[in-house]
Amino acid sequence: MTEESTRPREIVLGVSGGIAAYKSCEVLRRLREAGNHVQVVATRSALEFIGAATFEALSGRPVLTGVFENVPEVEHVALGRRADLVVLVPATADLLARMAQGRADDMLTTTLLTARCPVLAVPAMHTEMWEHPATVDNVATLRRRGTVVLEPASGRLTGADTGRGRLPEPPEIAEFARLLLEWGIDDGGMPFPLPRDLEGRRVVVSAGGTAEPLDPVRTLGNRSSGRQGYALARVAAQRGADVTLVAGTVADLDPPAGVELRRVQTTREMRDAVLDAAKAADVVVMAAAVSDFRPASTSVGKIKKGQDAPSIPLEFNPDILRELVTEDVPRRLVVGFAAETGDDGGSVLDYGRAKLERKGCDLLVVNAVGAGRAFEVEDNEGWLLGADGSSLSLPMGSKAALAARVWDAVAERLP
Ligand code: CTP
Repeated sequence: MTEESTRPREIVLGVSGGIAAYKSCEVLRRLREAGNHVQVVATRSALEFIGAATFEALSGRPVLTGVFENVPEVEHVALGRRADLVVLVPATADLLARMAQGRADDMLTTTLLTARCPVLAVPAMHTEMWEHPATVDNVATLRRRGTVVLEPASGRLTGADTGRGRLPEPPEIAEFARLLLEWGIDDGGMPFPLPRDLEGRRVVVSAGGTAEPLDPVRTLGNRSSGRQGYALARVAAQRGADVTLVAGTVADLDPPAGVELRRVQTTREMRDAVLDAAKAADVVVMAAAVSDFRPASTSVGKIKKGQDAPSIPLEFNPDILRELVTEDVPRRLVVGFAAETGDDGGSVLDYGRAKLERKGCDLLVVNAVGAGRAFEVEDNEGWLLGADGSSLSLPMGSKAALAARVWDAVAERLP
């Protein structure tokens, strides 16, 4: 770890005036808990929704609003220059319009003009406003200039409305904030993690474990939080892809914004959902930890605890990845995952290479597991092996960063 990568990061949290402003408090808490310094810059209308005291207690700093505050420090210039990241939660239609025009009529917009760091805008508004040609143009302008404008989620809006325009959940916003920060630290020269290079592409991602019922209360399954698959789906959606996420048994995760989520339990249900969605897909990523076996029969009643422990005959489940690469359909790009441990017979990489050949997929992400690695933790590392013989090391970092590298490799290989 370099000194640069361990120093607390300076984040400007810009809050504009929409009802979703209340969720910015949760984002602020998460950014602080991750060890960052956060300066809240709120618009006047944001302060109609949330009192400054709340932001000040959570950030430990006074909230800034107008350009005539703290004039001797020339704060409107200093803030932008100091920032490692600006996060806008929520970015209202009005804020996006003012940014697109390059306005500088309050502390937030002046800060945005002086900032040279990544800017993450998280929109929240009614569907009509999000879809209005004026907003569509403003978003396109901002993206062209390098601002990351997240796709909003679909769901309940203010009042009884539902539709696209909902603020993505705070953990998701914090995940993208971390991605932009860590990319800046480790990959100075690397391409940006969220280009819109998957626009017009359909992708399918599987996530989590599968569970096979033994009886009405017991299951036999694979351990997986689903976090890596969710991160892959999230990053693909924010790179412009049309994403179907097929999720088995997962931890308590929020559905990613802008993604179609299909929930399944057994391997056979996952197989049907993946193969169905794959029909129209350009890419399928099998990040799920699929259970290879299932009980040969499922007991209708709960298996009773008798004298002896029951022995349970098992049978093989379908191999979804194999089916994807052998199916008689137009060729799509298929990415597999492998959690491996090394032993006297070979290294993690040797086993990964052998699995890539056995499975016949185009790319294989190999994770070294054991001793608390990969399962149920926030970070991940490994290698990305290509059927073309390529091999790329995936350094320790967030699951979103690993996802961004996988999509880079996929985007390079798409026709
Ligand atoms: N996979 C699958 N269907 C299965 C088992 C695995 O689609 N029935 C996929 C996983 O989603 C993953 C890849 O295959 O992308 C490798 O999974 P892994 O469990 O490592 O593969 P196995 O073939 O089960 O190999 P092993 O003999 O090491 O368990």
